[in-house]
Amino acid sequence: MLRSQIRRMTTPEQRAKILDILKSLKKIFPKIDRFAEFTPPYRLHLGCGNIKLEGFCNVDALATIAVDVIDDIRELRRFPNNSVSEIYACHVLEHFGHDEVQPILKRWFEILEPGGILRISVPDIDRIVTIYKENLTHFHTKGHSPWIGLIYGGQSTPYDFHKTGYNACWLSYLLEQCGYADCQEYPHEPHFVPGAVDASQAKEPFGVFFSLNMMARKPF
Ligand SMILES: C[S@@+](CC[C@H](N)C(=O)[O-])C[C@H]1O[C@@H](n2cnc3c(N)ncnc32)[C@H](O)[C@@H]1O
Repeated sequence: MLRSQIRRMTTPEQRAKILDILKSLKKIFPKIDRFAEFTPPYRLHLGCGNIKLEGFCNVDALATIAVDVIDDIRELRRFPNNSVSEIYACHVLEHFGHDEVQPILKRWFEILEPGGILRISVPDIDRIVTIYKENLTHFHTKGHSPWIGLIYGGQSTPYDFHKTGYNACWLSYLLEQCGYADCQEYPHEPHFVPGAVDASQAKEPFGVFFSLNMMARKPF
């Protein structure tokens, strides 16, 4: 229908010109959806932002330089149940509302295979409070924000707002409620992907780690 309308409205020369433009656009913006290049068991890096992890299918809602698959990580409908061996979500879970978090953790549980590993890194409210108290002079200096970026998100896109917060006690409780086992914190360094650098290891501006890095497993 659209094709025949375009045919009626354009000359062959105009159509050839449009095709040329489309071809050059394809070169500038190569196809982002590389889902077909991945096979199960998938290793998913959810909410990758600009960080591409080798060996992972990097997923984000936005077309970033790192993304392999653009998808809403609340749904992930193209990944069948029990098809994923590993999920990594770094500084992402805090971007969802209180009511969304458990359905998301349950959806990730469904797609994980038995024995599959979930790793989550989030801003740690316990660590933030401690660092905040120890650096009160900094936060009480005119012009210094009370760490609003870390607490409320960068707010650079509609996907960049923080809606909830965690400490180890609360996150492990939520994970267990969704069926996960063996919840435990894992070290900030070295990164579990050799050479990777992301928010899970960040310790600036005070030289102290502020992330909660937690892993859990879907039981066999
Ligand atoms: C703070 S960034 C973290 C980026 C990266 N993981 C890191 O550690 O630097 C959060 C990312 O989650 C993505 N995101 C937020 N909500 C999402 C959703 N519903 N589906 C897919 N990605 C989402 C954002 O687009 C953003 O790239």
